[in-house]
Amino acid sequence: MALRKIITLENEILRKVSKPVVNFDESLWNLLDDMKDTLLKSTGVGLAAPQVAVLKRIFVLNLNNMYIEAINPKITKVSGCQKGPEGCLSIPGRQHNVVRPNKVTVEFFDRYGNPMSITAVDFMARAICHETDHLDGVLYIDHIEKNK
Ligand code: CO
Repeated sequence: MALRKIITLENEILRKVSKPVVNFDESLWNLLDDMKDTLLKSTGVGLAAPQVAVLKRIFVLNLNNMYIEAINPKITKVSGCQKGPEGCLSIPGRQHNVVRPNKVTVEFFDRYGNPMSITAVDFMARAICHETDHLDGVLYIDHIEKNK
């Protein structure tokens, strides 16, 4: 286990589309362990693999006394609407209001390849949207203009 460096806005890796995870093996688990260390050491609630310069469809969340590892996540259902402040470990020192769905269902795999599903509301729904966006090279600041 080790800390990984979190890359920031000017790094073009953040703008790339990540690839699905195919092998649920030891190298995946090492990455997940490193992402956990890195997130828990940070001030954030979520971290996506591209933020540690790995273009794989993975995010981790530490929220509501739950730690979640989501591999190949897909948001399958959204409803409602919320507006609230959002920040990003890759854009330090900034926050901005972003409109997001109030409720989302996300399907994903755990580290062993078991299919999982979570339905979340409020801030957790926001975090899931934010982290899933990272896997497509989208940052929360991209939504600001649209919200006006
Ligand atoms: Co972020």
